[in-house]
Amino acid sequence: MLLNASGCLDALTAPDVARQLDAFVTKTVTPLPRPGNPPVRIAETEAGMLNSIGLANPGRDRFLAETLPALRELGLPLWVSVGGFSAREYAETCERLDEVTIELNLSCPNVDEAPESAGEIVAACRAATGLPLYAKLSPAAWDIAEVARAVEAAGADGLSLVNTMRGLALDERTLWPVLATATGGYSGPALRPIALAAVYACRRATALPIVGMGGVTTGRDALELVAAGASAVALGTVLFSDPDAPGRIRAELETELELLGLDSLAAAEGLAHAGGVGLRSRPVAGPAPM
Ligand SMILES: Cc1cc2nc3c(=O)[nH]c(=O)nc-3n(C[C@H](O)[C@H](O)[C@H](O)COP(=O)(O)O)c2cc1C
Repeated sequence: MLLNASGCLDALTAPDVARQLDAFVTKTVTPLPRPGNPPVRIAETEAGMLNSIGLANPGRDRFLAETLPALRELGLPLWVSVGGFSAREYAETCERLDEVTIELNLSCPNVDEAPESAGEIVAACRAATGLPLYAKLSPAAWDIAEVARAVEAAGADGLSLVNTMRGLALDERTLWPVLATATGGYSGPALRPIALAAVYACRRATALPIVGMGGVTTGRDALELVAAGASAVALGTVLFSDPDAPGRIRAELETELELLGLDSLAAAEGLAHAGGVGLRSRPVAGPAPM
């Protein structure tokens, strides 16, 4: 299953890109409207991108009255990314949603990311809704597996891994921070090994299904997240430079599976934990010839 990462695709302005996905994930919606941070809000770096969008969104009331009905017209399964600044704020939004999957953005600024806090937010949302609840975690957690266990115990149905890491870019000439907020969220290829490690650790720690994301630009990248333990993959930063990425990555994924002799993506799930594809069938012999 292929999704977009929250905040990386506007399905209403690019419906053709959204229709290449199996489900559309909205930008994070917060109780009150947020204008977002002042410009500059995007900075390119060698191996990824920094953003300080600051959860710009129309707020819960307008989202429910205008954005969500318009998104439903796409005919795609919808995931709503929910943000807030207290467990109650998250839960109040969850209570008002219907016929969607909910992704709790537990990596919001000003929201404490200690395991108890993530667990408390999930528990409050669990009490407020029977809808599927995914917890989106930050890779900056000291022990992401511990956070994963906490949200599983609190009633989460799945994990979305990972959000951005904090980063800083300095202007080449002035040496001042490029972003108006100085630091921002770092996404793109540099995040890939970090995302792989998070998926790998959480797959070992919990039984929850995982949406893997972080730096995916090719079918091979998507396959690796699945091998580490994801059952679905989300595309983020790549969508800014390649709107055809969903179709291309799907085709590349097919080729990768064929090369490995696997008949479905499900057959690749968790292979990194089982010794990989080749190792199990490779004869145990002496050192490989030089
Ligand atoms: C411009 C931009 C805006 C984002 N907005 C959100 C957001 O609103 N909510 C959220 O949970 N993640 C947000 N993210 C994080 C992505 O959903 C994703 O977790 C992260 O970018 C890693 O994936 P990638 O390396 O493929 O981009 C945003 C990322 C970018 C680049």
